[in-house]
Amino acid sequence: MSNNISYVAGENAASYEKARKYNLFSFANAPHKDYKPFFVDHADGIYVYDGAGKEYIDIASELVNVNIGFNNRHIIEAVQKQVERLAYIAPRHAFAEAGELSELLIEKIAPKNMKKVLFTLGGSEANEFAIRFVKAFTGRDKIFSKYESYHGSTYGASSLTGESERASLFPTIPGFIKYPAPHLYGYDIKFASEEEATKHFLSRLEYQIQQECPESVAAVFIESVTGSNGVYLYPKGYLKGVREICDKYGILMVCDEVMSGFLRTGEWFACQADGVEPDLITFAKGVNSAYAPLGGVLISEKIANYYEENAFTAGLTYNAHPLGVAAAIACIEEYFRLDVKGNVKKQEPLLKKKLAELKAKHPSVGDVRSVGLFGAIEFSYSKDHKDVIRKNAAGEPFLGNFITKLRNDYGILTMGGGSTIIVAPPLIINEAQLDEIFDRLDKAISEYADGLIK
Ligand SMILES: Cc1ncc(COP(=O)(O)O)c(C=O)c1O
Repeated sequence: MSNNISYVAGENAASYEKARKYNLFSFANAPHKDYKPFFVDHADGIYVYDGAGKEYIDIASELVNVNIGFNNRHIIEAVQKQVERLAYIAPRHAFAEAGELSELLIEKIAPKNMKKVLFTLGGSEANEFAIRFVKAFTGRDKIFSKYESYHGSTYGASSLTGESERASLFPTIPGFIKYPAPHLYGYDIKFASEEEATKHFLSRLEYQIQQECPESVAAVFIESVTGSNGVYLYPKGYLKGVREICDKYGILMVCDEVMSGFLRTGEWFACQADGVEPDLITFAKGVNSAYAPLGGVLISEKIANYYEENAFTAGLTYNAHPLGVAAAIACIEEYFRLDVKGNVKKQEPLLKKKLAELKAKHPSVGDVRSVGLFGAIEFSYSKDHKDVIRKNAAGEPFLGNFITKLRNDYGILTMGGGSTIIVAPPLIINEAQLDEIFDRLDKAISEYADGLIK
């Protein structure tokens, strides 16, 4: 396998060595001395170019955040204009663009019950502030979130995170309780229907809340669609059922839409497809497609009313940074102008069909899942139960090597976890580009994964 490939040529060679010498890389899959980062020179649309000029298709929109694609001129010009007029202002001050973006979000995008928004720099911070809000509002301390979830890597957000390989500092903060994920592929009980599965998982959750003393539980946090843990959609009625349980016990419901928000699933927020109105929504990523850092928390009327009477004294120097805010207004304008929602709805059946074809053809593809342009391929020895592929023929970790192979030999950039890769291309993708992606995936899976199945 072409692991010794060079991603740089010419002047970029020195830049690469400088980066390796002085940068400490996050999300690294090897100790620093062995870590060979990919080197990016520039990007355009759905394509990324390395330091030697080679082109790659980014089928994960980087970290499922560059929803509009790279090099969007309207957003670039909006950021340029903003940096000239007002590059920064302390977040306790008001400025025109923050008001404009907040109005857009509340009046045109968020569920009807949302009344105010607090801006952060990203998704982890959004969840940190959401933790503060729910504890302040309820006066309760415990927080529920599910296993196989990712909510960020800061201290509170990693305490919310329910991964077995948790990217957290230990010990985590007391009072963060995990409940079983309603993920059907891999669950040890087979259900006759989705409704039956929903009933089962809701009763598990309610039982746990009862045992934890409901009066001490402030909130249930949930990704509206499980993201980096494998793009799991919940069985029919599950999110609505969580809302009902929360209402029954006076518990707040927080939907983490950091990855699923901003048209990734075909809706502005994935919870809207189920008609669910959470008390808070956290978001980031697609709000401005990563042209500058921005995240935030949408709060419902009752929590907004609480802060009408109580000052919110916490904050960060870069809450509501004007460059992130300007990029978000321009990005949302582009979502409307390019009818990105229409494109996601149009490409959704094609993505589903192509994923289903991969599953039918390849013995190593155990399961495929998708909604909108948010998809996943899970590698497993079995199609009807989860028996995931962990090692390749050489006994090395399967997934990391496969992702490297996709990049080096097939010009495909993606991300993944466990034994699952993500297929979540920029939302401006067309049919021909999807065809090209799946031709490459088909060949790579035949060559690298199918041979592992006896
Ligand atoms: C669902 C979810 N929540 C929170 C986060 C953390 O966001 P950030 O990396 O911007 O802090 C992520 C990041 O991938 C995410 O997928």
